[in-house]
Order: sequence, then structure tokens, then C-alpha cells
Amino acid sequence: MHIPNYQEAKRRNKKEYRRVDYKINDKIKNKYLGKTFYLKTYGCQMNEHDSENIEALLVHLGFSKVDDYNQADLVLLNTCSIRENAHNKAFGMLGRLKHLKSEKRELIVGLCGCMAQEHSVVEEIMKNYPWINFVFGTHNLYQLPNIIDDAIKKNKQQIEVFSTEGDLVEGLPVIRANSHKAYVNIIYGCDKFCTYCIVPYTRGSERSRKKEDILKEVDELIAEGYKEITLLGQNVNAYGKDLYDNYTLGNLLEDIAQKEIPRIRFMTSHPWDFTDHMIEVIGKYKNIMPSIHLPVQSGSSRILKLMGRRYTKEEYLELFYKIKKTVPHVSISTDIIVGFPGEEEEDFLETLDLVEECKYDNAFTFIFSKREGTPACKLKDETTLEEKEMRLQRLNQIVNHYFLENNKKLEGTIVEVLVEGKSDKKKDMYFGYSDTNKLINFTSEYEVSVGDIVSVEITSAKTWSLDGKQVR
Ligand code: SAH
Ligand code: SF4
Ligand code: F3S
Repeated sequence: MHIPNYQEAKRRNKKEYRRVDYKINDKIKNKYLGKTFYLKTYGCQMNEHDSENIEALLVHLGFSKVDDYNQADLVLLNTCSIRENAHNKAFGMLGRLKHLKSEKRELIVGLCGCMAQEHSVVEEIMKNYPWINFVFGTHNLYQLPNIIDDAIKKNKQQIEVFSTEGDLVEGLPVIRANSHKAYVNIIYGCDKFCTYCIVPYTRGSERSRKKEDILKEVDELIAEGYKEITLLGQNVNAYGKDLYDNYTLGNLLEDIAQKEIPRIRFMTSHPWDFTDHMIEVIGKYKNIMPSIHLPVQSGSSRILKLMGRRYTKEEYLELFYKIKKTVPHVSISTDIIVGFPGEEEEDFLETLDLVEECKYDNAFTFIFSKREGTPACKLKDETTLEEKEMRLQRLNQIVNHYFLENNKKLEGTIVEVLVEGKSDKKKDMYFGYSDTNKLINFTSEYEVSVGDIVSVEITSAKTWSLDGKQVR
């Protein structure tokens, strides 16, 4: 049994990570043939991509996937800790599973992902959820086959969560959710320790994958016909710093852009690590999509300092304009937290000012959520939840206004769209994303297949999407 420990998770020992090739355990291949699994993923793209590995590992064990948890022999929740509501969702699901398990005793239930890295969650599970069969963390996902096998064989709760990262495991099997868009991890973990954020504890130290391993994965994806790759990391802009003297995200982007891949995206970028070289490279290559997620979190330098973000409002704006100037028709999106402890009306107004100035193409807005073990958790917080909710509403009104205003500018123009499929809601319409990552619904007189990149003339703009028709 391994239980997570925050003190250990917090430590940053500058050490070299061993890179090892994953060895699949052939002894238990297809051992559970005929059994089914249901996998529920919460949280960010990192978790979605982990789930693509988890699915492949389960399939190796012989399980096949079902879309209804009531029909499954094994239910696994890949969880997220970022805000309290993510927690609540997972615990809500556990409530339903407890009920199901009381009727179906042989049901196997497991929990993994970021919540599994939290000491308090694991304690709670050991105390109040003895019926959960197994728990494993983000650092030992690759052990899944043996953990599940043990949980079933021994009929005893298995808790296997490493507090800190171990080797950098390459070559995990993967079943990708999409046949033309793929995620590629480039860096794991985060060393930024923004004071509100739990990720540095749940995902460990920044560890870059070797460029050769990344480039090889990209080559394989190109050979398989993938059209778009998204380079993933909690802070992709720190790529390479722990591994190379002089090879950063700018170099990696350039090496990938020279390959025959039509679309390259990357996320997320912390403003602190954004270099001029990266901006130049993004501006130079047509296949690096002009869409950058640049979380600001707050427009008040005082709050930014309390958040540990390492930049002022002015520094952020300088970077923002540099990107706008260098990357033609770039769209910039952001994340904003309202109601950080100590945020006064004045600070909040500064956030609104910044939003008015940046006119973001997209923004994810959140109310501050206390995460146990983070420094912000201990800060005095006198603003009522009601007031915070009001601020969120006021902010959303403004960001939404600019989404629509920016979209309106696209009316009458032609955009390139990577086709995702037929629209669920609108009959006879296809949908896909533009180079600037906007959702486009369109009609077509031509033959259209998923994975095509087509030209669409925009006929009308909405707040969160655009309508158009294919042109040639
Ligand atoms: N690595 C990314 C962020 C990942 S989390 C980055 O730094 O840009 C995604 C977003 O969740 C963050 O940008 C932040 O806006 C929000 N977030 C993180 N912790 C939060 C908390 N405790 N309360 C509310 N929002 C939070
Ligand atoms: Fe969290 Fe900050 Fe790291 Fe993003 S950069 S994951 S917000 S600590
Ligand atoms: Fe959530 Fe973990 Fe991602 S906390 S946002 S799933 S890194």
C-alpha cells in the first residue's frame, strides 16, 4: 500500500528522471476477456489523454468498453481536483456507484487521477468507502494492469498512490478518442506553485519528455493520417528547461512545424516563460495555429502577486501586444479567477478593465475555490460567496460581449475548418474548428468527410459559434 503525502509532493529535488520503455505484462493479457468497463473522465486535456492510455491498458487486459455504467463490470473514475465542484461531481458519482454495488456485489470500482493524489481524499476513501476496490495516482498509472488484477484476485482494497514522480515512462499503449486530432504530452507536472493551485501537488515536478520521443510520436501520428496535434503540458512554455541547455518550446515547435502536419496547437502557456523566440516561431509557420491560451487570472497586480503569478498587469499586457503584433490574426483566450482572497471591488474593476482592453476571443472564468494544502487556502477571505457570484456574472457579461464582437468581425470572411462531423443539433450541418479554434457549423454542397480541412464562408456570428457554408 502507498498513501500520498503532500509534504513529499511539494518537494522539488532537482534530479534526473530515468526514461524507461513501458513493458506490457503479457501474462495477464486478455485475462478478463468478456468483461466490460466504463471509464469516466473529469478535468483537463491531461486527464483526457491519460484516459486514452487507461483505455488501452484495460483493453489489453481483455475488457471492452461500454457507455452505460449500469452495464459495466468495472467502473473507473479518472478524477480532477482543480476546484471543489470537480470533487463534488466525483463523490456524487461514487454515491451512485455505492448504490449500484449494493445490488451488484461483483462490480469493481476504482478511482484514479488527481484526486487520488490528495491525502485527504485517500483517507476519506479508506475510512468511509471500503467498498472501492482500488485507487492509483497520476504517477503510477502505468501500473494499472497489476493493480486491477490484484484488486480482483485478493478481494481487498488496493491503495497504490506514489507521492512523487518516478521514471518517465515512454511507450504506453494508447487508444485515441479521435482519428484525426491527437494529444501529445511534452512536459509533465508544474513547478509554478501559483498559490491557489493544486496541480503542482497532484502532478509533481516539471519533467520534459525527450525531443526524440516527441518527434517520433509526431511522425507516427502523421503516418497514421492525423491532421492536428496538440502539445500538452500544465505549462508547455517551460518545455526543455529541465532537460536541455538550449532547446525550448520554440525549438520544438519549429522542428514539428517543418513536418507534414497541417495543424499544431499547444496548451497551456504560462506568461512567465513566453520567450520572443517562441512568438517568432509561432508567427513564422502557417501550420502552427494562431490561437494562444494565455491565462491572466486577474487584472490587478496586487492580486497577481498574492496569486504568485510572477507578472504584473503591465508585463502581461506587454506580452499580449507582442503576440498580437507578431502573429497574424491571432486569437487569444484566457482563464480568470474572481474572488481570490482579499480581492476588493477595486481589484475586480481592474480585471474588468483588462478584459475591456484585451477583448479576448474566449475566456474560462471561475470563482476561487479553496484547495486544501495550498497557500491561498490559509489567506483571510472576507468576501461573501454571493458577492463573488455577482462578480462572476458581471465578468461573464463583458467577456461574452467580446466573444460576439470578435466573431462578428468574421462575417463574410473565409476560414479554414477541420471537420469533426455532422452537427447533432442542426440537421444537414457539419461542424469543426477554425485555425483560431472557433466552433464553426456549416452547410455544404460537396462531399465532406471527417478529418477534411475545408474553406467556409462565415454567414452569421453567435457568441460561442459561427455559421457558414463551404466554398471552393
Ligand atoms: N496550467 C494552467 C492552468 C491549469 S488549471 C495555467 O497555469 O495556465 C486551469 C484554470 O483553472 C487555471 O488557469 C485557473 O484559472 C483555474 N483554477 C486553478 N485553481 C483554481 C482554484 N483553486 N480556484 C478557482 N480556479 C482555479
Ligand atoms: Fe496551477 Fe499555476 Fe501550474 Fe497553472 S502554472 S498548473 S495555475 S500552479
Ligand atoms: Fe484537474 Fe488534474 Fe487537470 S487537477 S485540471 S485533472 S491536472
